Amino acid sequence: MADLIRITDVSPRDGLQNEPGIIPTRDKLELIRLLCHSRVDQIEITSFVSPKWVPQLADAAAIVEGVRDIAVQDFTGSPPNRYIALIPNAKGLEVLHAAESGATKHGLEQFRPPVVSTIALFAAASETFSQKNINASIEESFERFRQVTRVPRSSPGIRGYVSCVIACPFEGAIKPQAVADVAARFTDLGVTEIDLGDTIGAGTPETVLEMLEAVERRIGRTWFDRGALVLHLHDTFGRAADCVKAALDFGVRSFDGSVAGLGGCPYASTPGKRVPGNISTELLVRTIEGAGFRTRVDKNRLAIAADYARTIVAASRAGSGGGPLQKNGGGQS
Ligand code: HMG
Ligand code: MG
Repeated sequence: MADLIRITDVSPRDGLQNEPGIIPTRDKLELIRLLCHSRVDQIEITSFVSPKWVPQLADAAAIVEGVRDIAVQDFTGSPPNRYIALIPNAKGLEVLHAAESGATKHGLEQFRPPVVSTIALFAAASETFSQKNINASIEESFERFRQVTRVPRSSPGIRGYVSCVIACPFEGAIKPQAVADVAARFTDLGVTEIDLGDTIGAGTPETVLEMLEAVERRIGRTWFDRGALVLHLHDTFGRAADCVKAALDFGVRSFDGSVAGLGGCPYASTPGKRVPGNISTELLVRTIEGAGFRTRVDKNRLAIAADYARTIVAASRAGSGGGPLQKNGGGQS
């Protein structure tokens, strides 16, 4: 199925982490439920980072618990293999495991199948960004990741993010070779997918292709052919759709988007200049299908999820909090 493209929606994590206010957990869960029904292949539900650094995602454990409930109510069984959570270090994995086992809610460990099918580790191709984002050099970040991957987990998915693959907000243009080096470190670590993030949306088709060529030379074509090479674009200058088309031509078969174009990275912003959002999943799907490829996404249901995302963000920005529950976004996935 060479023409089928895999879509990950990152709005509950990358979208909501960048909101100035804190979105209620109940609203985030409703967004995740609507995204499930839109049939995106994967959803990045939250991040087990320090709540002091990213208070917007301090409810990560409650999100995992709530997502398990969605699976029981809507899918009558175990959570489907589609949830991703970011993990920066061993502490993050420990908190995830406590949440998955029920220890955070019920006070004792139980055996329950994992909710999160893929953990996402995140490094950068820029030393300055790495320091500002995770308080570690690139080398130190991989030492932390080794501590994470040493811990056995029954779900084997590991995504390795490389941020600043085109440019860094602090260092400017990033050499494609630096991106390829970090991607190769991830392959050595044993990740199952590599996600290349244009964190500040500086990419053009030309610079994206130059970067992809360097990565392909270093880690090999098979990562592209089996859909294990993901592109994560932000749409700062309105070039993200052009970059998607170029990447499809090059052989990328997996992309991230964020409904309603929510998103950004808090540490990518410079004073007085907030980084604009990710490419919207709606535009991503339209662009992919317009180029003659297929996705599994139901565009009508995706539009419902996007409307809901806009509603909860608007309510949060207005200080009221609490979006309405969507009774009609459902149906089975
Ligand atoms: P640190 O302060 O250097 O950590 O933060 P530390 O090891 O010195 O610990 C300090 C305290 O934090 C300790 O608590 C730890 O227990 C606690 P205390 O003893 O003071 O009470 N702590 C934690 N608590 C909860 N969960 C944890 C955790 N780790 C330590 N996991 C750290 C290091 C990595 C934690 C911090 O820098 C951090 O949380 N950074 C998060 C940054 C972030 O989330 N950025 C956005 C995601 S990246 C992104 O958006 C880009 C992407 O979209 C791709 C793209 O667009 O390019 C993925
Ligand atoms: Mg991002």
